Amino acid sequence: MPAITATAPGKAILVGEHAVVYNRPAIAVPVSQVQVKASVFADIHGQPGEVWVEAPEIRLTAHLNELPPTHAIVRLFALLANELGIPRYPALRLRVTSTIPIAAGLGSGAAVSVAILRALSAFVGHPLPNERISALVFEQEKLFHGTPSGIDNTVVTYAQPIFFIKGQPFSLLAVGAPFTLVISDTGIRSPTAAAVSGVRERWQRDSATYERLFDQAAEIAQQARRCIENGENRALGPLLDANHRLLQQIGVSHPQLDRLVDTARQAGAWGAKLSGGGLGGNMIALVNPAGADAVAAALSAAGAVRTWITQVKAGLGKDH
Ligand code: MEV
Repeated sequence: MPAITATAPGKAILVGEHAVVYNRPAIAVPVSQVQVKASVFADIHGQPGEVWVEAPEIRLTAHLNELPPTHAIVRLFALLANELGIPRYPALRLRVTSTIPIAAGLGSGAAVSVAILRALSAFVGHPLPNERISALVFEQEKLFHGTPSGIDNTVVTYAQPIFFIKGQPFSLLAVGAPFTLVISDTGIRSPTAAAVSGVRERWQRDSATYERLFDQAAEIAQQARRCIENGENRALGPLLDANHRLLQQIGVSHPQLDRLVDTARQAGAWGAKLSGGGLGGNMIALVNPAGADAVAAALSAAGAVRTWITQVKAGLGKDH
């Protein structure tokens, strides 16, 4: 049987991270320059239920039943078996490769889960629709990342810009005019769960202050949506800057993030902010396309370990 392969992109949060965990709106975009690829091969020599897993980036080569039941990949196989009512898998080999840096705020965990579930469900003859893929990945994210909002699994599954409010139908954003982002990785690994739980502790201690900050982030997300839909790209810049200031007050920035944000602005970006969980990870800069290379070069010179230039293109403008 030929291999079945599926891919999933990375993601960046344009505005509204953290506040989105507290039911405020946020906007996320796919980043197709980085991706996860999952391939499933039939193992004609294996016994039913024998599953061999290879994931070179995390140096994993093992039989599924040698891994602890709490391992993320074991949990994914179990989630899908439960969804499809399969008692056991045919003998197979799963190979997962990724160009998305881990714990960099680029959605690596969600993308691994989406790609595996897509490839595996197609392999067993029940390709799941996006809605179910996203729902299962949300279950997986809850197990491994505490209290996620659901924005990561949604944007990575649908691979389109989204306007998202936790627990509500989301919108695929209509993008009035394509806009360009430079994304740069600080190289400082920062698991999202730790950043999210730190914000929760501070919110519990001083909810009035944090609720006010989240309300301001919500207003920024609503304004950003209007700018994107109307193609007013330049006007998005100050909104990103304002969101970065809020994230500093929320306590999730880092000196290197602040330095890269300042560098991007000095190099001509229209606006810049940290993106995702923060405390490390990545930042984004909104740029004039003609100046993207110069901003990327300035960020590298200021210590960014990787940069990507991505264009955010027209979504379908549909509600889901
Ligand atoms: C992570 O990409 C975005 C956060 O708001 C967490 C979440 O929404 O689950 C920090």
